[in-house]
Amino acid sequence: MSNLYIKHATIVTPIGREAMKGADMRRLNVIEDGAVLVKDGVIRYVGNSNPLRQIYSLFGNGATFREINAGGRVVLPGFVDSHTHAVFGGFRADEFRWRLEGESYMSIMEKGGGIQSTVNATRGATVAELVANADWFIKRMAGMGVTTAEIKSGYGLDYNSEAKMLAAIAQLAAKRYIEIVPTFMGAHAIPSEYKGRTSEYVDLIIEKMLPRFRKAAKFCDIFTEKNVFEIEDSRRLMEAAKALGYKLKFHADEIVPLGGAELAAELGAVSADHLLHVSDAGIKAMADKGVVATLLPLTAFALKEEYAPARKMIDSGCAVALATDLNPGSCFSGSIPLTIALACIYMKMTIEEVVTALTINGAAACGLADRKGSVEPGKDGDLVILDFDNINMLPYYVGMNCVRTTIAKGKVIYDSSSAFSN
Ligand code: NIG
Ligand code: FE
Repeated sequence: MSNLYIKHATIVTPIGREAMKGADMRRLNVIEDGAVLVKDGVIRYVGNSNPLRQIYSLFGNGATFREINAGGRVVLPGFVDSHTHAVFGGFRADEFRWRLEGESYMSIMEKGGGIQSTVNATRGATVAELVANADWFIKRMAGMGVTTAEIKSGYGLDYNSEAKMLAAIAQLAAKRYIEIVPTFMGAHAIPSEYKGRTSEYVDLIIEKMLPRFRKAAKFCDIFTEKNVFEIEDSRRLMEAAKALGYKLKFHADEIVPLGGAELAAELGAVSADHLLHVSDAGIKAMADKGVVATLLPLTAFALKEEYAPARKMIDSGCAVALATDLNPGSCFSGSIPLTIALACIYMKMTIEEVVTALTINGAAACGLADRKGSVEPGKDGDLVILDFDNINMLPYYVGMNCVRTTIAKGKVIYDSSSAFSN
């Protein structure tokens, strides 16, 4: 836990302890010549930079502080990547090549490639190997301003291998580098040994996995999709997860409009994700029930699909979050800068909405909006200092990193100003 004082910052932040919905997503608080004081990892003061001595004596309790002069640069809340599959074995560059040559994601999956090929590699990996691979991604995320990341299991698809993935996620969390949110996703695909026996695999998850992973995972997620887990199997599995106390997430309406968003709303899910083919009824149900619509533009981009209808969702009163979906198949990218550019350019989100989507709404999608996602007293000292004094630079510098410094719980974990040497 660290003590830090940032002065002369342009602080730009949403305000609150819950997801921002609809038109509220544009409302950011701006403090010119602002200061943030973080003590023992928690924000104690947000306001004007002066007078410094008074701020220290009121909030510092005699402690020593690392001081950063932001020189007018923007300070944002740390970004929350609320949807990743950052733990996995092996790569699928060969499949990406087939897709470039015209094959579809689902046809590769139906032939036993796709998720199943990562399952085979993950089953063969040790916990240490999984941790080392994911650690490489997490460091790069931190360099793009991410201070909280959700990570899903779901490339094990049997008890031992799912347990191994959750152990790897727990080890990553224990490093306390950034905050990690663990999700159990045994229902990511039907493993080859259960081909044609979906409901037996659902039974296995309900009986053997869900009860035993309750402590290791905060969320339960499922790939609700035609020819994968259809609506009735999804309802059965997620009702069982809910009864055990898991919070729920859905991969919903990604490839065909199946009613995943409606089911997420019916079961009180925290988020429904992807939503490229969400129906109007699904949008209304999410807005009414406060389900965070988590949009993953890098996946649509990499699969050459239409983007999710972000504008329509926000205008209908939904809370929209943005995340990367980093995974070895459909979206081998964890690029926050490209996510921002695609959301602004193709999904017609405003820059303010994008900031909200990557901060407080991402935090809400992780069930952490009381502690993360805004620069306010009482919240964790998770902050991003940009290289610029204006958030307009974020999408304008297309696909490029604007992050100068990343701070997690008051500790500098990435600093680009010292990244180069002559
Ligand atoms: O979120 N849609 C399903 N699951 C992942 C892809 C996983 C993979 O291809 O390995 C996703 O896009
Ligand atoms: Fe995903």
